[in-house]
Amino acid sequence: MTDLKVTGLRVARQRCEVLHGVDAEVRAGGWLAVIGPNGAGKSTLLKAVAGLLPYTGEVTVDGVRLRDLPARELARTLAYTPQNPVVPPQMPVREYVLLGRTPYLGYLALPGRRDRAVADQVIERLDLTALATRDVGTLSGGERQRVVLARALAQQAPVLLLDEPTTALDLGHQQQVLELVDRLRRDDGLTVVTTLHDLGVAAQYAERMLLLVNGEAAASGTAAEVLTPAGIAAHYNAHVEVTTGPDGRPRVHLIRPAQVRAEQAEVPTGGSARHDADA
Ligand SMILES: Nc1ncnc2c1ncn2[C@@H]1O[C@H](COP(=O)(O)OP(=O)(O)OP(=O)(O)O)[C@@H](O)[C@H]1O
Ligand SMILES: [Mg+2]
Repeated sequence: MTDLKVTGLRVARQRCEVLHGVDAEVRAGGWLAVIGPNGAGKSTLLKAVAGLLPYTGEVTVDGVRLRDLPARELARTLAYTPQNPVVPPQMPVREYVLLGRTPYLGYLALPGRRDRAVADQVIERLDLTALATRDVGTLSGGERQRVVLARALAQQAPVLLLDEPTTALDLGHQQQVLELVDRLRRDDGLTVVTTLHDLGVAAQYAERMLLLVNGEAAASGTAAEVLTPAGIAAHYNAHVEVTTGPDGRPRVHLIRPAQVRAEQAEVPTGGSARHDADA
């Protein structure tokens, strides 16, 4: 059982408060998607929960205050991947993923057979086996993103905080990563918090959503409760259509404003797309 509870979280960055008392709760085995426009404070929330920024308020896991945990214990409780990870460029992928095992190693001890097995299993599940001996600095953006996630999964912590884990990934790898996280949630009871800019994707995976706007919770609840066209228009200044998928969850479609579509309909387009060599 690993309930995560955030109460009255306030965080200042360079003396300017950017989170103004945010509450959130994720039940054990739940998935919370934190959404909101750029600069709303999503990454700040995750970083503070991960213990990387000073805050006031409370963050507890199963009632234990995270700020009271020693670093090693915290790393066994919670794994975090940043939105813009910095990686040691000259470290081979397998060694980098093994860093996720650090909280389990004895003082000055090297990773053991079990640690290597865990790392290799994660590497395989994330399609990284062929890259295992490559230096992290030589990878493409999406490959690097999967390697950073692999390190976090190798940590085997019951709470997973992922800040925009799929931004650099192609469609297939987005689905692979999100399905893997969902399987870990269902099978092993992992408690997951992600920020995700793609609202349609967030709606398909997350059980609950928290919409942050200007450092405050503007809405929270199920995807259907949070993702309304009016709310998205108000907070994102975006035109969307929201339909309901066969799974009952909302699908969010970005559509051009009606006025622009009407104007375009008046302009004769002439020409057609040609894909053949027209010599
Ligand atoms: N290191 C920093 N120093 C000062 N201000 C910062 C720092 N990092 C973030 N901020 C500010 O804090 C606010 C929240 O930033 P945060 O990165 O949490 O937003 P976000 O919701 O994750 O945005 P995005 O969707 O762009 O990732 C923004 O106004 C941002 O400019
Ligand atoms: Mg962010």
